[in-house]
Amino acid sequence: MESIQILDAKKHVGETVQIGAWVANKRSSGKIAFLQLRDGTAYFQGIVVKSEVGEEVFQLAKNLNQETAVLVTGEIREDSRSKFGYEIDISGLEVVGESHDYPITPKEHGTDFLMDHRHLWLRSSKQHAIMQIRNEIIRATYEFFNKNGFIKIDPPILTGSAPEGTTDLFETNYFDQKAYLSQSGQLYMEAAAMAFGKVFSFGPTFRAEKSKTRRHLIEFWMIEPEMAFMHQEESLEVQEQYVAFLVQNVLDNCDYALDVLGRDREVLKKYTKLPFPRISYDDAVALLQKNGFDDIQWGDDFGSPHETFIANSFDQPVFILNYPKAIKPFYMKPHPTREDVVICADMIAPEGYGEIIGGSERAIDHEYLLEQIRAHGLDENEYSWYLDLRKYGSVPHTGFGLGLERTVTWLSGIEHVRESIPFPRLLNRIYP
Ligand code: 4AD
Ligand code: MG
Repeated sequence: MESIQILDAKKHVGETVQIGAWVANKRSSGKIAFLQLRDGTAYFQGIVVKSEVGEEVFQLAKNLNQETAVLVTGEIREDSRSKFGYEIDISGLEVVGESHDYPITPKEHGTDFLMDHRHLWLRSSKQHAIMQIRNEIIRATYEFFNKNGFIKIDPPILTGSAPEGTTDLFETNYFDQKAYLSQSGQLYMEAAAMAFGKVFSFGPTFRAEKSKTRRHLIEFWMIEPEMAFMHQEESLEVQEQYVAFLVQNVLDNCDYALDVLGRDREVLKKYTKLPFPRISYDDAVALLQKNGFDDIQWGDDFGSPHETFIANSFDQPVFILNYPKAIKPFYMKPHPTREDVVICADMIAPEGYGEIIGGSERAIDHEYLLEQIRAHGLDENEYSWYLDLRKYGSVPHTGFGLGLERTVTWLSGIEHVRESIPFPRLLNRIYP
């Protein structure tokens, strides 16, 4: 008898198989018990009929506790009425691991309680669906960059540089020196682009941000492509193609998860249409002012209500181009004819999910960069390796960073970024 994962049920209809699973829920009458089971790949129903299995197995099934681990044996049957589409008619049942007083019951629990039990909460169907979407985005990311000629490069996590500013760095001791947890791999990816042409990274990044919003994590994963011999306009095309590809793959490969989450496919389909709209920072400010946002002046960074308003003015993700130089990092390319803005773009997701990509063309002039490093109060000695890149064959190049968790949150259609990562690190939470 074959052991299978229930996700492969289609291939085993009519066969008797064995599945290792946990009991999510159950109900029973005097003659029949319905077990809601999960085997890690999906939630499905197992049916135990007393007249078929005998008194002993039936009593065992009837008395199973929530989250007891079992080995079930039985025949796979198609069942068009259930969400999953397949059931198992159980003929044999063995308890592998007992469970008593599982804390997360089918009733409603508060978020703090669930976060304290994140190690168990991950087992629930909604969390399961979100992690499947996350996994698909990860898989599709590798596929997209591999098929477009990028090579994956892993920048260090312990670093001596602060590309995104010094205010939210995690400092640690590195023997007798100071080091920081990486807030972005970008500077290293620029070095890699000069060595390999088109590169991407995919790794954890850290921001000691004192923000407690539904979009901010302290530890999050970022995908950072960097492309040599490329200007900003072409990078925007790569960005929109990449994001549309992610949406399409979630639509194609995450049917079950989208059903569990109740995510409207027609809404997602709109995000596969290219190109995405573009609006300049200047026009975005004017749009906000015209619509009653008196709190925003040219030169200000956008907050989440501003981003949401701009996003709602379009049907797809939107690029906001060329922000004021004063509110962006030191490495961005200056505008050729304007002193006050840099060549950059943020991609804002629809439906109020905020910025999912930040990117820019990079400054390539050695003297200009040195000046900027000094102006931002950074120690030029720590950046001498980075400045070297501008001494030996400096070329136009551009790159961007997509936040994995914000993208998962958006495509899943969930409220808060904390559910988009298995074990979120938040302002007041490093447990479990
Ligand atoms: O806009 P950011 O700060 O850009 C960079 O770090 C660049 N160095 C990237 C590059 O050009 N290579 O961050 C990029 C993205 C944001 O758009 C957002 O999606 C995500 O990372 N992000 C966060 N996600 C969750 N929690 C946080 N605290 C985040 N901060 C940024
Ligand atoms: Mg940003």
